[in-house]
Amino acid sequence: MNVSEAILSRYSVRKYRDKPVEEDKIHKLLEAARLAPSANNRQEWRFVVVQDRKKRQALMRAAKNQEFVGEAPVVIACCAVTDNHIMTCGQKCYPIDVAIAMEHICLQAVEEGLGTCWIGAFYEESVKEELQIPDEVRVVELLTLGYPADQPSVKNRLRFDEIVMYENWK
Ligand SMILES: Cc1cc2nc3c(=O)[nH]c(=O)nc-3n(C[C@H](O)[C@H](O)[C@H](O)COP(=O)(O)O)c2cc1C
Repeated sequence: MNVSEAILSRYSVRKYRDKPVEEDKIHKLLEAARLAPSANNRQEWRFVVVQDRKKRQALMRAAKNQEFVGEAPVVIACCAVTDNHIMTCGQKCYPIDVAIAMEHICLQAVEEGLGTCWIGAFYEESVKEELQIPDEVRVVELLTLGYPADQPSVKNRLRFDEIVMYENWK
């Protein structure tokens, strides 16, 4: 599978087969994250891989009872150890860097026959408490992972000409 095929095939998987994900595959996905670019090569990302059923249930509750979060065989808490560095452009590095690493995971997952879904609807404090994540660490997003049991729907996106401008904002 090439990158274009992975980009086309990726979708948010919200129903998972009751089948564990092989450890070597999880390792491969996290290796893809490790190789991601980051501002100044800061690599502030940290990943907590959760497979324990009770913990996944607790993460589901922290994620506003989105049921598939508890059903996915793996949930990865995508975190940042950060000094909140702000780039010259005015943006914080850490959410951007963690997001890039996460999308590396998502695309590598497609190649492995796996599916993912980003989870931003969660209460950070509840996740931290459940996973014993220190106060100073930020939980940027959760990511569900497993073998898909649903099908992609048509991609609902803005048209190319609605989002791309050449030379000027116009
Ligand atoms: C930052 C971010 C947060 C998201 N949070 C959630 C979430 O909490 N629950 C959910 O079901 N999907 C969540 N999604 C998935 C989006 O709804 C999804 O990516 C979007 O609708 C496009 O669909 P697709 O991923 O299938 O192409 C999130 C996606 C991103 C990028």
